[in-house]
Amino acid sequence: MKTTISMIKADVGGFPGHVSVHPELMKIAEEMLAKAKKEKKITDYFVGKCGDDLNLILSHTKGVDNKEIHSLAWDVFKAGTEVAKKLKLYGAGQDLLSDAFSGNIRGMGPGVAELEFPERKSEPIICFMMDKTDPGAFNLPVYRMFADPFNTPGLVIDPTMQGGFRFEVYDTVQGRKITFKTPEEMYSMLAFVGSRSRYVIKRVYPGPGNKVPENEAVCCVSTEKLSQIAGQYVGKDDPVAIVRAQSGLPAVGEVLEPFSFPHLVAGWMRGSHQGPLMPCSMEQATPTRLDGPPRVVALGFQLADGKLVGPFDIFADVAYDYTRQKANKIAEYMRRHGPFEPHRLPEEDLEYTNLPKLQEKFKDRFSKI
Ligand code: F6R
Ligand code: MG
Ligand code: MG
Repeated sequence: MKTTISMIKADVGGFPGHVSVHPELMKIAEEMLAKAKKEKKITDYFVGKCGDDLNLILSHTKGVDNKEIHSLAWDVFKAGTEVAKKLKLYGAGQDLLSDAFSGNIRGMGPGVAELEFPERKSEPIICFMMDKTDPGAFNLPVYRMFADPFNTPGLVIDPTMQGGFRFEVYDTVQGRKITFKTPEEMYSMLAFVGSRSRYVIKRVYPGPGNKVPENEAVCCVSTEKLSQIAGQYVGKDDPVAIVRAQSGLPAVGEVLEPFSFPHLVAGWMRGSHQGPLMPCSMEQATPTRLDGPPRVVALGFQLADGKLVGPFDIFADVAYDYTRQKANKIAEYMRRHGPFEPHRLPEEDLEYTNLPKLQEKFKDRFSKI
């Protein structure tokens, strides 16, 4: 029997501003999912949070894109919105773009990452949640986990990993996708995924010779808004991702290692700035300094017949203290640029901008040089 893991997330109200999820929102989600579990609609669940995003981690046997599962998540977000409205939380219901649920949550605002697979003898999974950034923030770490031998020693010394991996990449501007095979096409792939505001890694599959079959995705990143509304800028996504680990896949430590480097991502204040991605525990994921810096939380689980054994809140470990310090130093350095690039994003990537209005206002004052 196959297990499906669905990570579905939305910001349905922040407290205060865009900083965190109010305990009352966590409570309503917890109650509704406990009921769904009791009624056997899902096998298990965990209610997580990262910044102002409410994250539902669901295990079930219904496959990806399942109507019942998506509608359960939608109902939780709707109920959360009602609570948020009562408490006048900030941006109540902001990620629910439509009033009517059509059977699939994709394109309706919330972010989704799902994997379906037969559980192995032991099945460690890591659920990542990010806030104040977009799906492109996963490009560098996912590339490093599955394709960089300086990050993942297994690519060199585990014979079952020698066949490499395949990466499904979305072009969010033209609404098309392509698959690259590493290590053979590593340089070409990097030429694309290095442009992380346009090309985003969606899924990773094992290459030939792996213990996991080649058609079974082992990593999935949420890319909802960007990919749904191709060609139109619709803001930052605050993405999530699920990664399976060990036994021919990157070990848990190899999955986590890329996050020891606080790389620069797009997002932060008003979704319009570059800043370091800071790994932290769920409780520390409260972006306050200039609404940031951007955060990433990693929750580790072992699956036992669909039961989510865990979570283990990984970045609470002291081993990431140094990365957090470094992220704070980089945040300080970037902040000193104020409204100048590269702290502020280039014009086309700005989430909020009054530049078109200013261009209009001053257009007659420009003269030929
Ligand atoms: C970034 C984010 C915040 C807001 C900022 C302004 O993703 O959510 O930085 O952009 O707090 O918010 P508004 O325009 O709602 O006042
Ligand atoms: Mg918000
Ligand atoms: Mg958010």
